[in-house]
Amino acid sequence: MSSDNIDGKMERIKALRAEIAMHDERYYRAADPLISDFEYDLLKAELKALEAACPDADLSNSPSQKVGDDRNAGFEKFKHRVPMQSLDNTYSEGEFLDFCKRIEKELPPSEMLFLVEPKIDGCSVSYIYENGKFVRALTRGNGIEGDDISRHIPNIAGVPETLKAIPGKPFPHFVEIRGEIYMTTAEFLRINARREADGLELFANPRNLTAGTIKSQDPNESRRRRLSTYVYGLGACEPAGTFTSLSELRAMLADWGFPLTAFCARVTGGEAAAGQIRLLDEARKNFDYPTDGAVIKLDKLAHQRIFGEKSHAPRWAIAYKFAPEQAETTLRAITLQIGRTGKITPVAELDPVEVAGTTVSRATLHNEDEIARKDLRVGDRVIIEKAGEIIPQVVRFVPEKRDPASTSFSFAQALKNAGIEAERPVRFIDPARPEKGTEQIAAWYLKEKDSPEIRSRRLLYFASKPCMNIPNLGESVSAQLVARGLVTVPADLYALTFDQLMTLEKFQQKSAQNLLDGIAASRSRGLACLLNAVGIPNVGAATARDIAKKFRTLDAVASATAEELQDVEGVGEVVALSIVEYFADPKNREHCERLKAAGVVTEEQGAEDAVPAAAQVFAGKTFVLTGTLPTLKRDEAKAIIEKWGGKVSGSVSKKTSVVLAGEDAGSKLEKARELGIEIIDEAAFLKSVPASDSVPAENAVPALQNPVPAPSDELPLF
Ligand code: IVH
Repeated sequence: MSSDNIDGKMERIKALRAEIAMHDERYYRAADPLISDFEYDLLKAELKALEAACPDADLSNSPSQKVGDDRNAGFEKFKHRVPMQSLDNTYSEGEFLDFCKRIEKELPPSEMLFLVEPKIDGCSVSYIYENGKFVRALTRGNGIEGDDISRHIPNIAGVPETLKAIPGKPFPHFVEIRGEIYMTTAEFLRINARREADGLELFANPRNLTAGTIKSQDPNESRRRRLSTYVYGLGACEPAGTFTSLSELRAMLADWGFPLTAFCARVTGGEAAAGQIRLLDEARKNFDYPTDGAVIKLDKLAHQRIFGEKSHAPRWAIAYKFAPEQAETTLRAITLQIGRTGKITPVAELDPVEVAGTTVSRATLHNEDEIARKDLRVGDRVIIEKAGEIIPQVVRFVPEKRDPASTSFSFAQALKNAGIEAERPVRFIDPARPEKGTEQIAAWYLKEKDSPEIRSRRLLYFASKPCMNIPNLGESVSAQLVARGLVTVPADLYALTFDQLMTLEKFQQKSAQNLLDGIAASRSRGLACLLNAVGIPNVGAATARDIAKKFRTLDAVASATAEELQDVEGVGEVVALSIVEYFADPKNREHCERLKAAGVVTEEQGAEDAVPAAAQVFAGKTFVLTGTLPTLKRDEAKAIIEKWGGKVSGSVSKKTSVVLAGEDAGSKLEKARELGIEIIDEAAFLKSVPASDSVPAENAVPALQNPVPAPSDELPLF
């Protein structure tokens, strides 16, 4: 090898190490990765290949030899008695067979007993039990010591406090049981559906959300977001020799009461293992938990000892990862979406493309830095990936297909073109230690909080369907009311007169009267709609409904403490503080008083779980169901339709509003096509119902069509 060549390689090794170390920090410690797992694995594979080709490269500090570090301040640290390692991984069957060949050198094929299990995409954990009693749970940490996350364990389904006693089998005095904490896909979708209804940015995948949850020092976080666990391995065990194989361990773990993956194949030889990997890739489509591959490990502990460990991973096991589905499309535009807090999020508008079973046409680009880091330009061909099989991301552009004349995207220019005045606020790096200085945050926020444009948007939001539902108050009316000084805050609506409305463009007696009637009727929407309408940051329809259900009156909500608010399911610290802050502002209190004085009902009416009239999204609609839906049973779909004010009919006619079609839909579907009636699938149906119903039964994995919260009623409210 020429020295130039070597120098080039050493340079690349250095760059890769720095880049991977940065990504490790983001993934393990911050639970907020910048790139997809697949892109990360590609970088790591490149580093390993280069290190292998450069025998002089000093490996001692390379991230290729370490397990990452998830330790965080605020948690007590404990040493693992047996270190927690990582796994080597591959995406290629050839490399997997190479692994088998290495095993074959020491073991005759008939002795090569493998377990093939799903690789659960969560966070590794070590559960420690002494004489059958739970002692503590540790994260992997740096492999040597981990964070004590025991405070979350009572909230994690399936971790026994006391192991079930099995006659004739005394408990080990001490045992480290290794496994994974994860979030079911259904729970992830439930949380995201709610965030969508509340106009918040969606979480990217269940793994990050799991990591973020257990990194919280507040056990309420894990209570609100339901986490689960599976166990599969062993660390230290006293007395030694209690187990001789993983399959024996597995049987014992099941008897002790732990949850185990249903899929676990015990096979002889590499070919048979490869067959199981393929089966698993198929089977995992029906799993209710995220998997990103298969783990193949020697079953017998005596065999494992023959091969031993490297610094960061055992030689007796390997992860075979399934490449995520990717697709190429064109980035048509980058649009700006203004969130309810005034946050401006860039969105990739894509030529529609099929990825892992759904059509993707939009994807969040997170913030300005993200676009710059990926150097995305309008017109680029881009790669879309559905990591965690759920939320599509723009991974990168395709350099070979870039138009050389294309120019970088300027966020500032885009804001200017849209006439939006915005800023990137500055905050303390560590609020507890101001001496550490300040930093500019990644997101842009609207600068002015009370311009006519914002007042008008606020009014439009107040009048929108899920809020006060004032049918004739659209964009033009809202803008005129504000521009003419007739309305400054929504409470002014209730003082409008017929004559004032007659001054609006194109308004005649009938339209003025209709609007007046709509305003009058809106007084009785009830507390849930009102709480949504006034625009408390982080509170949307779903949260407003739950808060209204519990507190019943606006006064009770206004005087609730953050702790009391957090008793409502789904209300975390951020939302609770946001509500407290809202009512602490005299301007907002005054606005609420004015609404009350104008006769707006500030109590929740009706039965505890009744759906407010304004939220009856299917009112006046007749549905026809046909075919088999992927997750919902017929009567479940019917119940949802009826709950939200719709009707279900058996046959398609001109009166049918929507046909909800599943697989093997027959003549009804044809008739609907002939009559030009709207036809939707289950995913679209679930998206159109409010969040509480948009998550089907566990095990179901509905596809989110569009990961970006709908911008239409995403109005800035302060
Ligand atoms: S066995 C020495 N089995 O994947 C490590 N690990 O990327 C032996 N994982 O750190 C691990 N599912 O947290 C094993 N069925 C499974 C697994 C699994 C997920 C995790 C584990 C490990 C990581 C490596």
